[in-house]
Order: sequence, then C-alpha cells, then structure tokens
Amino acid sequence: MLLIQEQIKTALKARDAVLVAHYYVDTKLQILAEATGGIVSDSLEMARFGQNSNANLIIVAGVKFMGETAKILSPEKTVLVLDNNATCSLDEDCPIETFSKFCDQHPDRTVVVYANTSAQVKARADWVVTSGSAFNVVKHLKINGKKILWAPDKHLGNYVKNKTGADMLLWQGACVVHERFKAKTLIQLQNKYPEAATLVHPESPQEVVDLADVVGSTTALINAVKNRKEQTFIIATDNGIFHKMHEVAPNKKLIEAPTMGVGADCESCAHCEWMAMNTLENCLSTLQTGNNEIFINANIRKKAKNAIQKLLDFTA
Ligand code: 13P
Ligand code: SF4
Repeated sequence: MLLIQEQIKTALKARDAVLVAHYYVDTKLQILAEATGGIVSDSLEMARFGQNSNANLIIVAGVKFMGETAKILSPEKTVLVLDNNATCSLDEDCPIETFSKFCDQHPDRTVVVYANTSAQVKARADWVVTSGSAFNVVKHLKINGKKILWAPDKHLGNYVKNKTGADMLLWQGACVVHERFKAKTLIQLQNKYPEAATLVHPESPQEVVDLADVVGSTTALINAVKNRKEQTFIIATDNGIFHKMHEVAPNKKLIEAPTMGVGADCESCAHCEWMAMNTLENCLSTLQTGNNEIFINANIRKKAKNAIQKLLDFTA
C-alpha cells in the first residue's frame, strides 16, 4: 500500500491539479503542496497563484472563502475545497442580508471588506483587502478623500483606523482564534523572555497589538522571524504557522503567545478549528470523488471579481 502522500501526488498529476495551501493547515499538507508544484502562502498569494496557474483543477487546503476567491478569479477552472464545512468566524459573523442593509444605510461610504467574507459580501463591496494590504489600500482611499465602511473584523479595522487616521465605520466581527490572545499573560511572557521580539497578527485585540514589535499578515510575520536579528520570538497567531517559521529560521526559538487569562476558555488554543478540518485523508478523497466543488452565481462572481481585482492590481 502506497503512502497517502504518494497517492495524493499521483492523483494530482492524473487530474492536472495543483494544491494551494494556507500557512495554518496541517504541516503534512503544506509539505505536499510545495513538493508538488503548488504553494503555501497567505490568503492574497493563494488567490494570485490559483489565477496564474496552468492547472485545470485547483485544490484549496484552507477555508471556504479561500476556495471562493480562487473560483471568482478562475471561473473556467474547477475549484475544490477539502471540507465544505471549513468556514471562518469572520465570514459567519457577516451575513449578506444584514451587511447589505448596513451598506444601504451609509451610501456615502466606500465599502471595504476583508478577504475573510462570502462571495456575496465581496460582491457588495467596492474593495476587497487582505491583512497584508489593508493598511495601504485604506491609506490610498483616505488620501482620495473617501470615508470608509469596513467589515467584518473589528480588530483589524480598528488597527488600520488608528494607523491611517481614516474615517472608518466598523462592522463588529472577530476571529475566534486571534481574539483569545490575552495582553496580561503576554506581558508576563515578555518579562520572562525580555530578549524576544513579539509578533502579532492584526486580527488580535488592540491591547495585544499594542504589545507587538511587529504587526502583520502571516507572510509578514514569517519574514520577521527570518530577517530580524532576535533569536527568540513570541508569536500571536495560529500555531500552524510554526512549520514555515521553523523552516525559514531553524535555529530560532519560537514561543506561542498565551491564550489563557480572564475570559479565555482554554489554555493554549491558537489553532483554527476550521483550518484543522484539512487533512491528508480528505485531500485524497476530494481528489478521488471530485466532491466539495465551489460554485458561484455568475452575477455575484462578476461583482466580487471587480472588488478583488482592484486589490490584485493595487498590490501588483
Ligand atoms: P492572512 O491573509 O494573513 O494569511 O490571514 C488569513 C487568516 O485567515 C488569518 O486568520
Ligand atoms: Fe477565520 Fe480566524 Fe480561522 Fe483565520 S484563523 S480562518 S480569521 S477563524
């Protein structure tokens, strides 16, 4: 019996498929994506890679909005996700009906939504941004005199609002993983490792962001581990990212930022339950059955594409 990795490799080849994985998924899937000509990256590069790839079938190891973004950008290709139920609390927190009413109430504002949203929400937006691009896009809109309606992540929105000084009306969604990081226990850890640099994803609460040496997208945090001179890092983001960080800086010490403290419901739970639904087993079965295909209504797709394409052109 062949190893499951070998079976997936053969199936990818046979189906002219490419595996596109996020930094938060199972290490084995990340290794396989890179070993088979696919990619492991942040959400922005996942979208770009799928669009530029020659493969007819894109297998997305991540969450649903990542599969939808790939399909929006590559409608002629078949896009499969590994589990249809792998969603995201930010996407769930922003249902199209209520969001659309909110937009209708503020017609004077430019609608900017985070990539972690449904295709319908993207279709209602003027711009789609990712954590790696939000600051520059909002700064650009502010310079052009725009007032902004932002959704869904209140923490990322608040961070960008403070940094740019833009007039931003914020939807009140949150990432259940990053919201668990606690400032009080992070300060205790920083006191224990005064030589460490603290790296924080901007989906974290303001008081945690305020303690960071670097605030940035998953790619920015990996680059910080690689390029900064410190040998020890405290990291406040999903711990799936540790695989890539260890790979780019094998001799550096990486410590998980604490999620315990008042109000937390676990001791260290910095791993997204939806990203964890991506496994080698469902990768193989998805390839074999063709299940979990992403379909998007043509009208929604066209509108969502406009909003995403602005970002791709802006960040090109
Ligand atoms: P990145 O765009 O930084 O990869 O973030 C995606 C995400 O879901 C973070 O929780
Ligand atoms: Fe969504 Fe948070 Fe999971 Fe990222 S880590 S997919 S923002 S729930």
